[in-house]
Amino acid sequence: MLRKSKIKLFIFIVLWTFCGDASCNKDDSTTEGNERPKNIDEYNQCNEGLKDYYTPDDYFYMGVAIPPSFINNQEKINLIKRHFNSLTADNSMKWSSLQPTEGNFDFTDADKIVAFAQTNGMKVRGHTLCWHNQVPEWIFKNGEETASKEQVLNRLRTHITTVMTHFKGKVCAWDVVNEVIDDGSSIYRSSQWYNICGEDYIFEAFRAARAADPDAKLFYNDYTAIDPAKRDKIYDLLVKLKAEDLVDGMGLQGHWNIEYPPTSLIIQAFDKYKSLGLELQITELDVSVYTSNSEPESLYTSDLALKQAVAYERFFIAFRNYKNNITGITFWGLADNYSWLDKFPVAGRKNYPFLFDENYKPQKAYFVVINF
Ligand code: XIL
Repeated sequence: MLRKSKIKLFIFIVLWTFCGDASCNKDDSTTEGNERPKNIDEYNQCNEGLKDYYTPDDYFYMGVAIPPSFINNQEKINLIKRHFNSLTADNSMKWSSLQPTEGNFDFTDADKIVAFAQTNGMKVRGHTLCWHNQVPEWIFKNGEETASKEQVLNRLRTHITTVMTHFKGKVCAWDVVNEVIDDGSSIYRSSQWYNICGEDYIFEAFRAARAADPDAKLFYNDYTAIDPAKRDKIYDLLVKLKAEDLVDGMGLQGHWNIEYPPTSLIIQAFDKYKSLGLELQITELDVSVYTSNSEPESLYTSDLALKQAVAYERFFIAFRNYKNNITGITFWGLADNYSWLDKFPVAGRKNYPFLFDENYKPQKAYFVVINF
C-alpha cells in the first residue's frame, strides 16, 4: 500500500522536474495544478499560498493556531499572511487564560490575535469555552467544599456570556464544548464538569452560547472523532444538540500521524456527521512523524518527509472530496520549530508535523497539498 503510494509520488515528483517554470501570476493561481510551484525555487518566486489554492468559495478557509507572541515576529507574520485566512488562539482563549480567578477577565492576549486577524482580513475561530483542561480549580469549589451543580452552571453561563459578548462580531465560530466524550466504554468523560453536573453542563454551555451571539457558528470539537465507537457517541450527542438547534458544526481535531487514520475511517466519519446537516471543520491538524509513544526520537529524514507527504496527500484528497461540507481546515501550529507535539504525548521528543520546516520553508508535503 505504502509502496504503491511512494511510486506514485516518485512519478509525480519526476514529472514536476520536467514540466518547466511555474507561473505565479494571481490569475493563474487557481487554474491548473501544473502551474503551481513544485519546488522551493518556484515557491520563492511567487506570493501565493494555501489560501489562494484552497479558496473559501471553492474549498475552505485555511487556518492556523498561534500564540500572541507570533505577531511580534516578522518571518512568522509573513508566513501567516501568505498562507492563512483564519486564526485560532492556541491557548489565549481557554478559560484559565481568560478568567483565571472568578470575575477577573483578561482579554489582553486574545485581543492581540483578534486585532491582527481583523487588520489582515482573517476570520477567527474561538477555542474553547468549556473544556476539562486549562480550567481553573475555583469553578468547582465553594470554599473548601465542592461547588453545587447550580453554582458551577452559573459560572459556566457567566463565562460564556461574557467571553462571547466581548468577541461578538469578531469571532465567527466557537468550539463551545471540547472533548467531553469518553475514550473508553463510558459515554461521557469523567471530568469535574461531569461529576458535578452530569450531561446538563454540555447543553447549558450551548444554550448560553446561542443566546450570547446568535450569529456565531457553534461547534462541538473532539479528537479521534473518526474512531467508530467514539464517533457514534459523538453522533448521539450531536443529535440531541441538533434537536434544540444548539449546534452548527462538528470539529474534528485532526491530531493524526503518517499512517493513521485510514481514509475509510475519515470518510465514514464525514458521512455520519454531515448526515445531520452540520458543517465540518478540521480544527487542529498536525501529522506526527511518530506512530506510537514508544518510538524513539528521529531526525526528519527524507524517508519520513516522503511518508508524511503521502499522508498529507491522502488527507487532503479526502478534504477536497468533502469540500461542500467542510468549511475550514486549521493547522495546530505554523512551522516545525514550535508544536505542542514536542511536549506531548512524549515530553522532549522533537516532532515535525507541519507543512513548513523549522526555517519556515515548505516541506515536500506542502507541494503535494497544493498541486491537485
Ligand atoms: C494544547 C496547546 O497547543 C498546548 O500549548 C497546551 O499546553 C495544551 O493544549 N486539543 C485541544 C487543544 O483542543 O486545545 C490542545 O492545545 C491540543 C489538544
